[in-house]
This record gives sequence, C-alpha cells and structure tokens, in this order.
Amino acid sequence: MKKVDVILGLQWGDEGKGKVVDVLTPNYQVVARFQGGPNAGHTLEFNGEKYVLRSIPSGIFQGGKVNVIGNGVVLDPILFREEATALAASGHDLSKQLCISKKAHLILPTHRILDAAYEAAKGSSKIGTTGKGIGPTYTDKISRNGVRVGDILSPDFQTIYLRAKHRHENILHSLGYDYDVAELETQWFEALDYLRSFRLIDSEYEINRLLLEGKSVLAEGAQGTLLDVDFGSYPFVTSSSTVCAGACTGLGVAPNRIGEVFGIFKAYCTRVGSGPFPTELFDETGAELRRIGHEFGAVTGRERRCGWLDLVALKYAIMVDGVTQLIMMKSDVMNDFDTIKVAVAYDMNGRQTDEFPYSVDGVEINPVYREFQGWKCDLRDCRRYEDFPEAFRRYVEFIEQETGVPVKIISVGPDREETIVR
Ligand code: IMP
Repeated sequence: MKKVDVILGLQWGDEGKGKVVDVLTPNYQVVARFQGGPNAGHTLEFNGEKYVLRSIPSGIFQGGKVNVIGNGVVLDPILFREEATALAASGHDLSKQLCISKKAHLILPTHRILDAAYEAAKGSSKIGTTGKGIGPTYTDKISRNGVRVGDILSPDFQTIYLRAKHRHENILHSLGYDYDVAELETQWFEALDYLRSFRLIDSEYEINRLLLEGKSVLAEGAQGTLLDVDFGSYPFVTSSSTVCAGACTGLGVAPNRIGEVFGIFKAYCTRVGSGPFPTELFDETGAELRRIGHEFGAVTGRERRCGWLDLVALKYAIMVDGVTQLIMMKSDVMNDFDTIKVAVAYDMNGRQTDEFPYSVDGVEINPVYREFQGWKCDLRDCRRYEDFPEAFRRYVEFIEQETGVPVKIISVGPDREETIVR
C-alpha cells in the first residue's frame, strides 16, 4: 500500500506551495486538498500565464490526475464556480478530474457576513481575516450546526439551509450588524446547481482505495503552520488544522499512511493580517523584500508584512509537522542584499529562548540574529546546486544544520524551470 506524501507551508502562508505542488505533481497520481477554503490563493505561473487556485487542487493542470477536495475543506459554491469556470475557459476540463467530499462543509452567504460582523465587533483586536467566511463555517462544523456538501443532494436541503440561515440571522441581529444577503443568496443557489454536476463522494473511501491500488497521493496544505488553529499564534490564526495531522483528519487517512512531509518556507518571512511577527522589518529592507518579492496577497491584494527568516518559528513548525524534506522559496529576492540576517533565538524581557512562545502579549521580543554575507549575484541563472555562490550555500547549509532536515528543493524564480532539485 502506498503512502500519502504531504506538502505544508511552515510559516504564515504564502510560501509558494502552488508552484512546488505543480513541480511535484508529475510524480503523483492523486492530489488532494485537506483543509482551508477560498482564503487560500495558490499562484502558479507557466507558459507565460498566471493562475490563482483557491479551492481546487494544483494537480488540475497536469491532466490525467485524480484531484480531491477533502472533507477538511470548506467550500464556497460561488467562488468554486468562478474558479472552475475560469479554468474550463482556459482549456482545463474539471468534470472528469475532480471529486469533492460530501463531508466538506459549505460556506453559506451568511457565513461571509458573519465573518465581517465578528471582525467589526473585535474592533482594534481584529484578526484581519480574508473575509471569506472561513471562521464562522468551521465554527458551525465544530458546534455541529454545519451544512455539508452532501446535504445538497437531500430532498430536505431547503429546510437544512433555512435552519442555518435563521440561526445566523439571529446572531447578526444580536450584533446589530446591517446586511443584505439577497443577491449573494441568489448566486449561491445558482452555484449549487453547478456544484451538483461534480462527483460528490465519500472521498475517504476513494483515497484509501487508490492507495491500496498502489496510486501515489500528494496532500496539499493551504496557509501555514504558524496559522494553525492549535499551534499558530492564537488567536491570530485561521480556523483549520494546517499541520501535518490535518491531512489525516481532512482526508480520512490514518497517521501510519503518511510518508514524506515536504515543508516549504521562504528564505525570509511574510505575514498578512494581524498578529505577532518577531522578525518583522519596518524599515527600508522590509520595503525592499515586499517590492522585489511582490509581496501582496493573492486573495485580498493586501500588502504582506515582511521580515528576516525566523529559525525559532521554523524549527517549531518542523517539529510539529514531522518534516522530512525542506523546500526553500524565493531566495533570489535577496540577490542584491549586502547582509542577510536569520533569527536563531528570541530575547524575551532579557531571557533568551529558542522556543516559540505561548503568547507574546505584553512581552517584548527581540530576535537574536546571526548575520550572513549577501551573495550579490543573480541566483536565477543557477540550474544546479553546484552553480550557487559559496555565500548562498553557506546560508542553505546553516539552515540544514540548525533544523537537522535537508533542503532538497530550492526555487529561484516563479517559473517551473527555476527550480533546483538536489
Ligand atoms: P481567515 O482564514 O480568512 O479566517 O483569516 C485568518 C488569518 O489567516 C488572517 O490573518 C489571514 O490573513 C490569514 N490567512 C488566511 N489564509 C491565508 C493564506 O492563504 N495566506 C496567508 N495568510 C492567510
């Protein structure tokens, strides 16, 4: 029986998973999403075209793969239809390649409104969500009030829907939040008809059957470990399990079926939304990272906060996820930097630690940095590890030494070709 390999972001999302999944998918017959929803925006670039995937697995571009939207995902029918029809228009036929778990939860129009209402109610302590209704949908799932994809096949669907909607309206009323859901609701019901045309299945059976048949499966994570609802910088997190264990619960595969765990990180750090970010740079260097790295959100267009690589956080993510191979992205963004810094510990109110803290409320964190000389050349010209300048190899090898995990893939540009596999 084959195992499921998992690819995960190890930081606050936006590490470049879309590109790497696209590079890895030729080795797999099945690609599955296991958590998150349209808060994700996996950007892929090839043949001069740029695509952003939100809910659909990145295997869709390769043809001949089984793509699964697993039970751990939350699906917005309106955004799904938008995404799927755009892909169909560019020649990617989804109907035969995509199946969706009946146990995935539906994002209702009122979930989106609730997301906005909760954020407004939080005032200055808002999370800075993507506004896609993610938190309220997972809240309903856990509180056993959710509406599942499989429910749209029920003759009682209208009743199920209205029960949920009325509950939401009561909450919105109690928050004193003004809204108009009529137009969104019309679009939502139209989009449900489109969703019904897909293969809606018990995907845990499908995936385990494919594994038994010897098919290779790649589980594709969204967001990143530091946004995980348990292990991230709570409460400034998303509402799903973005860690490796999330692939088990989000697809219905047992822990002993997990094989390789690919951990993907940027050579520096970024974050969108609120919450702690110890190595954040508020100076010209931070602005340079943003400008050269095009660090603007794929879903919301927001400016990403930028800072140096944080090894305290990276080691924490590697531990929680059981990462077996590292993948480093966007090293080329720092091509022209004279000096590059990496945080190796935190100084918290005079006490030094290399553990990711429970909370940073009321604590001043000063990262303890190790400095590296910049490589000052264009990494995009390199095609083999041996082509890289010594200064860059020192940076990579320091990360390997600190984390104890090999850096197997290094990406030096957006294109498929700009990927060095060791
Ligand atoms: P939510 O997932 O929309 O509820 O947002 C919660 C937090 O996670 C916010 O800080 C978002 O900016 C962040 N977030 C959610 N999805 C992504 C993503 O795909 N990349 C980066 N940050 C994300």
